Amino acid sequence: MSASEKKTNRFPEGGERDNHAPLWSGRFCESPDADAVAFETSIGADARMAQDDIAGSMAHAGMLGKQGIIPAEDASRIVQALEAIAADLRSGALQIDPAAEDIHSFVEAVLTDRIGDAGRRLHTGRSRNDQIALDERLYLRRALRDLQKELVSTVEALVSVAEQHTGTLLPGYTHMQRAQPVTLAHHLCAWCWPLTRDYGRIGDALARMDAMPLGSGALAGSGLPLDRQQVAGALGFSRITPNSLDAVSDRDYVLESAAAFAILMTHLSRFCEEIVLWSTEEFGFIRLPEKWSTGSSIMPQKKNPDFAELIRGRCGRVTGDLVALLTMMKGLPLSYNRDLQEDKNSLFSAYDTALSCLRVFRSMVSAAEWDTGRMRAACTGGHANATDLADYLVRKGMPFRTAHTVAASVVRECIESGVQDMTELPFVRLAAHAEEIGQDVYSFLTPEACVSARSLPGGPAPQAVAAQLEELRRFCRNSV
Ligand code: ARG
Repeated sequence: MSASEKKTNRFPEGGERDNHAPLWSGRFCESPDADAVAFETSIGADARMAQDDIAGSMAHAGMLGKQGIIPAEDASRIVQALEAIAADLRSGALQIDPAAEDIHSFVEAVLTDRIGDAGRRLHTGRSRNDQIALDERLYLRRALRDLQKELVSTVEALVSVAEQHTGTLLPGYTHMQRAQPVTLAHHLCAWCWPLTRDYGRIGDALARMDAMPLGSGALAGSGLPLDRQQVAGALGFSRITPNSLDAVSDRDYVLESAAAFAILMTHLSRFCEEIVLWSTEEFGFIRLPEKWSTGSSIMPQKKNPDFAELIRGRCGRVTGDLVALLTMMKGLPLSYNRDLQEDKNSLFSAYDTALSCLRVFRSMVSAAEWDTGRMRAACTGGHANATDLADYLVRKGMPFRTAHTVAASVVRECIESGVQDMTELPFVRLAAHAEEIGQDVYSFLTPEACVSARSLPGGPAPQAVAAQLEELRRFCRNSV
């Protein structure tokens, strides 16, 4: 159909309105150009909020009826018809019209088609401006809870792996240099805590967006006796928004959600960077199963950690979505401006990316094999026990700064004489560095001893990690 054929005349001779023209074409005499319609529509993005839009309309119509603003029988006809529309959309009996301007106009047009004049009463005391603010909150309420559930499952999966590795030693790194030995369980717990904070951040956003905006109208509320608290109660909100201008122009809930997604993706990208590193020949700490790896089109030997790389890379997309949203909001005057429509593509893309990356990350990590021999072997050779020698000397009464110098001189001697680990030095050579060094020093310098000495809360010793694991298990039990 050409653009000109698609044009509809909203006011044909005889005064009959065209069924397909927007219900609010109001003062306009010209029909919109097809290109203009295609440019301004948000239906493609809105479609996923169809059920939320209908739920909001049902609560609004119910309130209009109870308040006597519209006849009670019209209110119940509207509610019934909306229920049927929701069911038809779910079953596929009704398809969303891709030419509709947005989800609000689509639902209202179908409703009016089905029940005529009663349907024309639904929009009483309401604007699409407060409607979209409601729909987004309703949608996010569901979507964010799903993401929280996924976060809990991911923590559960990591904890299950960690529980098998409370005694698996590997070097911990700072500056990507071997620093001090830790356990794999401790390291995996260190991946869990950021995810629990992501969970909390999402919970904070949910608590702040728990305010019902209907009744704010286009910007200045309504003169009709709407009962905002009733609508809030019907939709499960704990409060109503306090200012109509703010309610239709606030997108903090979108920004906060997108920020939470971007931070979550930043965490995943960091863990995935480690997976990429650990799956190299050089590290060899992790073996990814074939189904979570890919081959090379030219190099037959390759087994690439593409999924970890893709998650790492997709972090850029989500950060970009957050930046797009912040930039779109910047400088917008009160109250509603159409710029705000641009929030949906970024929000939904960031959400979809975060959710799918989290799912893939969980499956990949659950299926990975951990090469505990390679990890244990990497604990020696990097003098990762030098701090423990210093701590040993501190326990014997030496000031730490002096102990640090003594331990450094032992390390230097090892490097100069090509000795891999200070425990390979004969006692006379070790003891020559400080009179505090006794025969017992060796038992303090094995990687096992170094780890079990760090038993403070939050440390890598098996009993400290057991407490962390218990706390993480409690988090999983007590979360949605
Ligand atoms: N599609 C619009 C949005 O997403 C809905 C509100 C439209 N309001 C308006 N006055 N045109 O923001």
